[in-house]
Amino acid sequence: AQSELQGRFDDLIGADERIEPRDWMPEAYRKTLVRQIAQHAHSEIIGMQPEGNWITRAPSLRRKAILLAKVQDEAGHGLYLYAAAETLGVDRADLLDALHTGRQKYSSIFNYPTLTWADIGAIGWLVDGAAIINQIPLQRCSYGPYARAMVRICKEESFHQRQGFELLHDLAHGTPEQHAMAQDALDRWWWPSLMMFGPPDAESAHSAQSMAWRIKRHSNDELRQRFVDISVPQAEALGLRIPDPDLRWNEERGHHDFGVIDWTEFQEVLAGNGPCNRQRVASRVQAHEDGEWVREAALAYAAKHSDKGVA
Ligand code: 3HC
Repeated sequence: AQSELQGRFDDLIGADERIEPRDWMPEAYRKTLVRQIAQHAHSEIIGMQPEGNWITRAPSLRRKAILLAKVQDEAGHGLYLYAAAETLGVDRADLLDALHTGRQKYSSIFNYPTLTWADIGAIGWLVDGAAIINQIPLQRCSYGPYARAMVRICKEESFHQRQGFELLHDLAHGTPEQHAMAQDALDRWWWPSLMMFGPPDAESAHSAQSMAWRIKRHSNDELRQRFVDISVPQAEALGLRIPDPDLRWNEERGHHDFGVIDWTEFQEVLAGNGPCNRQRVASRVQAHEDGEWVREAALAYAAKHSDKGVA
């Protein structure tokens, strides 16, 4: 009975095996996966807005083509992840409604404005770089559909990160004004990128359970530290200065020490008071309403053809 099912589930998790949609799973495991996968998907589609803002103003056709491809990829990642969430028995329309009404979150990072073209480079380099560090371990997540979605998403994310780094490298090695623009973008995007990894481990509500269920493979602070250690030499290669006076290599730790993160800013952004929260959700709701006719047409088409194929 239930205890047998729980035992089998625990054995699968303990053996680092995959849980598939048809396997029995504790309701709390299913709920936390719906929460995380849905919010991951919401992050991808909201993330299209700050970048989309620059598609019509890209400085060259090549840059415009790259940015178009990246924004389209983010949409695809969102659809991929909504499909993964639906394997848990939830309906995509309900997840979108939860996003639109603030009952579900999206990544804090997308509540900041993209003020200059250099921000597009900073997002690719830092935000997609952070996303990669967070998503690589998720390829080994215990829930099959989520782990498999991550494999393809990580491949595309590395192109996103590389094009952002290259964009910033061009600017940082361009005119003094371009260098200043690149440095200004790093100054504004560095600390919010560290916050992407979530609250400190001591204040993380879900980490212990998520790690026990092998959904989360590394803690928030561990991945944040990995991101800092990887970013320092990259900033040096760019010739840009990371805006943290406390950043320094710590030989005995074998990691970089870094300054204190402003967690009140993080909590404010999560509470909906970031620079762009209202605008991001309003644009999302508007896009959803503007797309009503597409959903109606698709449903009408499906209804008209549903009798087809009946023997
Ligand atoms: N932004 C918004 N909310 C955040 C957050 C952030 N950066 N970090 C944490 N939170 C929320 C959590 O969702 C949770 O709230 P909830 O209970 O309402 O869901 C609360 O803060 C406590 O945080 P925990 O650390 O306890 O929560 P988790 O164990 O879920 O860890 C996480 C947070 C590390 C973000 C984890 O959910 C995760 O790995 N999610 C998948 C990755 C993801 O969502 N990435 C989005 C990045 S952007 C992106 O991928 C687009 C790319 O293409 C640029």
